[in-house]
Amino acid sequence: MPKSYRIAAIPGDGIGIEVVAAGVEVLTALAERAGFGIAFDHFDWGSDYYKRHGVMMPADGLARIKDHDAIFFGAVGAPDVPDHLTLWGLRLAICQPFDQYANVRPTRVLPGITSPLRGVAGPELDWVIVRENSEGEYAGVGGRVHRGLPEEVATDVSMMTRAGVARIMRFAFRLAQSRPRKFLTVVTKSNAQRHAMVMWDEIAAEVAAEFPDVAWDKMLVDAMTVRMTLKPESLDTIVATNLHADILSDLAAALAGSIGIAPTANINPEGHYPSMFEPIHGSAFDITGKGIANPVGTFWSATMMLDHLGETEAAARLMRAIERVTADPALHTPDLGGTARTRDVTEAVIQAVRGDN
Ligand code: NAI
Ligand code: MG
Repeated sequence: MPKSYRIAAIPGDGIGIEVVAAGVEVLTALAERAGFGIAFDHFDWGSDYYKRHGVMMPADGLARIKDHDAIFFGAVGAPDVPDHLTLWGLRLAICQPFDQYANVRPTRVLPGITSPLRGVAGPELDWVIVRENSEGEYAGVGGRVHRGLPEEVATDVSMMTRAGVARIMRFAFRLAQSRPRKFLTVVTKSNAQRHAMVMWDEIAAEVAAEFPDVAWDKMLVDAMTVRMTLKPESLDTIVATNLHADILSDLAAALAGSIGIAPTANINPEGHYPSMFEPIHGSAFDITGKGIANPVGTFWSATMMLDHLGETEAAARLMRAIERVTADPALHTPDLGGTARTRDVTEAVIQAVRGDN
């Protein structure tokens, strides 16, 4: 019996809807070619759902997706709903209860893509950023008092736990160990933030002792932006807090050519809950409905999903198809300086998947 997978597709808002539809088409063609089954259940949760029901997803939403093999996500965010409601109401409302504490963000300059960095065309920039995805600056701890009054106070408290830091460090060291260079950079800000970030550094050093074959170094986050820009070849695997990695990974995506290409995986490494795969970009209101969203970030996220499911050959086949398509400038969407449409890129990737031996 060939294997078969059930995927929860949550397109969300804006171009999320366009790129997830493209991703579902590509995955369906790929499964046919590779000989495994894939079935999608579609959930129309997001800002339109919010406008109708007052919530981003139904109360039993998590129960409805918890037994799926994976979640394939688009983006959330609408011009007329506050971003903190959409983000906390859907994306974080899935990541946090499903304990998807490792957010993995590979960055490479794909064939045919021009990096804004001079002289960087391929092997000079090959990183994986690991983002702590469950606590830290985005733990949601804080509050507002005296709302609207002159003495109003607001706090966002960064919460770091020993268990939370140790598990993300172990995940990052293990990932670094699996890559040829076996090299990890730990991003910190322990010069200015002298409690949680100092503990972060201490735990990094403790966990490093468990991985004697992995070399590692430490960078302050501000200096890290300089190193990423001026010495990209000096980096390989990177681990950073929720906030730091959020920012650094957008920089990484831009340095690799476009935010429309960058993929991510929200992983529950223990497999107690489904993991979630999505492009890193948002709902991009400025191009919604124009048919020009770059679907490559979603396709690359699909390869990460296949790898996670153990379909490594299919993942490699899809990655080859993506690279064949990015190599052709006639198939570049406007974010890459081209004139191709989402449809053209999708059809070309499907062709390449079918034609690949
Ligand atoms: P964004 O990523 O949606 O867009 C930033 C810029 O990049 C825009 O000019 C957009 O046109 C372009 N872009 C993004 N993805 C593209 C693609 N696939 N192809 C071509 N161009 C692309 O970020 P922005 O504008 O800051 O946020 C828009 C909304 O998305 C907000 O509501 C925000 O909260 C939400 N958002 C959601 C995320 C998620 O669901 N994971 C992540 C980031 C933002
Ligand atoms: Mg971000």
